[in-house]
Amino acid sequence: MAERFDRIWHNARLATMRADRPDLGEIEHGVIAARGGHIVYAGAAGDFPADADAIERTNCEGRWITPGLVDCHTHLVYGGNRAHEFELRLKGASYEEIARAGGGIVATVAATRKASEADLIASALPRLDALIGEGATTVEIKSGYGLDTETELRQLAAARSLGRQRRVAIRTSFLGAHALPLEADGNKDRYIDLVCNEMLPAVAKVGLADAVDAFMEGIAFSTEQTTRVFETAKGLGLPVKLHADQLSNLGGAALAARFSALSADHLEYTDEAGAAAMAKAGTVAVLLPGAFYFIRETQKPPVEAFRKHGVPMALATDCNPGSSPLTSLLLTMNMGATLFRMNVAECIAGITREGARALGVLDETGTLEAGKWCDLAIWDVERPAELVYRIGFNPLHRRVWRGQ
Ligand code: NIG
Ligand code: FE
Repeated sequence: MAERFDRIWHNARLATMRADRPDLGEIEHGVIAARGGHIVYAGAAGDFPADADAIERTNCEGRWITPGLVDCHTHLVYGGNRAHEFELRLKGASYEEIARAGGGIVATVAATRKASEADLIASALPRLDALIGEGATTVEIKSGYGLDTETELRQLAAARSLGRQRRVAIRTSFLGAHALPLEADGNKDRYIDLVCNEMLPAVAKVGLADAVDAFMEGIAFSTEQTTRVFETAKGLGLPVKLHADQLSNLGGAALAARFSALSADHLEYTDEAGAAAMAKAGTVAVLLPGAFYFIRETQKPPVEAFRKHGVPMALATDCNPGSSPLTSLLLTMNMGATLFRMNVAECIAGITREGARALGVLDETGTLEAGKWCDLAIWDVERPAELVYRIGFNPLHRRVWRGQ
């Protein structure tokens, strides 16, 4: 009897992004078959049974299919916006100056504390919809604009709720160690006590975080403080990731590697030793060209060292109100290529396979392979390079999340 599937997409060109194939793992005459929301077959049409049966068959008319896109680093849920700081920066103030003068992250904290969970969801939805509209099927969302237990939990709850309101997988990261709230009165150690003794246990207890992140920087937290957060996270069984070496080299990449972090993110000031440590630990380098562009950074992340040492490179929007008000993974890829000199295969892998790896969900999504969720982006392009090459154009034909 012929094998029966829920859906079959045929007459497609596949960029499987499989790690065991070179470049994009292309298949010129490809078929994808799904059952129960999972891929059962993704491969050459010639090897697919001609008599296979399906409830629904879609002729892709030669369109390219990539894995559904993964945005592995966002701060999508927050109150207010910071357009006025953008105006100040246009008059010459720097991101760090604004942060030190009480603007920056703490300004968003004030707006986020005032917002209800419903407010946070309502303001985040258009941003999430922009990502989904370009084919995103998995989006990571961080807390870090509450900086007190109640608001951090509310932000994470809002993030999880977004995943019930839209057909998209949401992964949450607790980023209590993002900035020092005003009421901490400059006492970073005491605030980290609060993060470790109260916030993290509360977050872990209700299971609202998939990972724990921190911001290690002169304007944020030290190596010692970050280490305490990571040790507490590990004790609670949560994987870690780090905003590392964004504005200066404090050895963030090496610290992340020491804790076998899922990823170290930003990395503009990372040195070769940091890259080597990450390679050994299997820590993904998440590059955020939107933030690099928006704060007019000039120091580029050491892409050549990451290549040399075999560090997997992901790309993400870093969508946030202060340093990267960006909601386009397509533009992120263009910036990865233009600003960081990543090639087409690296850019596409960066928002699919490596993004999934940076979230610890590579066994579930990120490539076109049997056994994974059937998360697809179907594109009206002649060649995959167009996805990276065009600026401000969205050639998405259809998005498929978990087979639908
Ligand atoms: O990823 N680096 C720290 N956090 C954010 C910026 C957040 C903000 O300015 O609101 C980032 O760039
Ligand atoms: Fe960030």
